[in-house]
Amino acid sequence: MIRRPIAWLAGLGTAVPERVVTNAELESVLDTSDQWIVERTGIRQRHYAAPGQSVASLARDAAERALMNAGLTAKDIGAIILSTATPDRRLPSTACDLQALLGADNAAAFDISAACPGFVFSLTVAEGLIASEQAENVLVVGAEKLTTITDMQDRSTAILFGDGAGVAVLRRSRGGERGLLSTFIKSDGRLAELLYIPGGGADDPISEKVVRERSHYMKMAGREVFKHAVLTMAEACDEALRRAGVRAEEVDLLVPHQANIRIIEATAKHAHMPMDKVMVNVDRFGNTSSASIPLALDQAQAEGRIRPGSLVLLVAFGAGFTWGSALVRW
Ligand code: ACO
Repeated sequence: MIRRPIAWLAGLGTAVPERVVTNAELESVLDTSDQWIVERTGIRQRHYAAPGQSVASLARDAAERALMNAGLTAKDIGAIILSTATPDRRLPSTACDLQALLGADNAAAFDISAACPGFVFSLTVAEGLIASEQAENVLVVGAEKLTTITDMQDRSTAILFGDGAGVAVLRRSRGGERGLLSTFIKSDGRLAELLYIPGGGADDPISEKVVRERSHYMKMAGREVFKHAVLTMAEACDEALRRAGVRAEEVDLLVPHQANIRIIEATAKHAHMPMDKVMVNVDRFGNTSSASIPLALDQAQAEGRIRPGSLVLLVAFGAGFTWGSALVRW
């Protein structure tokens, strides 16, 4: 039996592009309305990256803030794990580009593809790297430019997504109570085609046909995804608590993946957590996939909703399907 905590979150940093896109702006280009978007999703605005702004550059800005907050430099980092559904290039990994931008010469760097729970998957892998003595300090990164895989002609998805990056510095624990108390990750690949990008990968490489059919953009069966999201997030909350031997009433703040306010409310209800113990910022950023949890954590900390000693439950789901959770003593 492993004795936890093995690792703790020593610093957070985030970066979002300057450009804010409101529901009113989308109303002018799509058959939609502010009222529909707010009622069905809770989203009021999202951030869009500028054309030349890369995923790696967003991640760099977030990582520099996280390193400063942790009191470390890039040279102290032994591994960079970057979760993204939108790598800048197919080769090499965006994590390697981030390593070069930061000058993190002592790190191993690689990407993880686990969609929205990618930050939770990356935390789990990072804890393993620390446990196996591969690294003392790991940059755990969620960075996305979802606008590049969103079909701006498809009103059922175009309203949902935004761009951004969030980074946590995970450090080896030196005794004490702070850190990861449990993690839980799971997938079900049989559900892949409820939320996927059919074309443009190795199976159907980019071609005129792919572009004409717009199959290089995300396709989503929204209602089905919604149903599975509620079920899997509920399972993930229960598992993280069970593995740590903690009761839901002891949790100070639930930080769920910010996809849709109705999914967040259903998850909170299942976890028996009143909404005043739930972090919500989907209204400001929309769904930023693997950047969503670090963006919410950073804001919660800035607002004083998380303090040293707080018990924080992270939970997320996404394409794959993938889902996961982590319980953290802040
Ligand atoms: N504006 C106005 N009307 C719309 C819009 C829009 N933007 N989008 C869809 N509609 C219409 C539909 O055409 C439909 O009309 P109809 O009844 O005439 O056919 C009606 O609204 C209802 O559509 P539903 O899809 O049933 O709406 P629902 O209440 O399910 O909300 C939503 C749709 C918001 C997409 C919801 O299903 C959802 O949030 N699903 C989960 C999505 C999610 O979280 N995905 C992210 C996973 S993250 C990742 O891994 C990248």
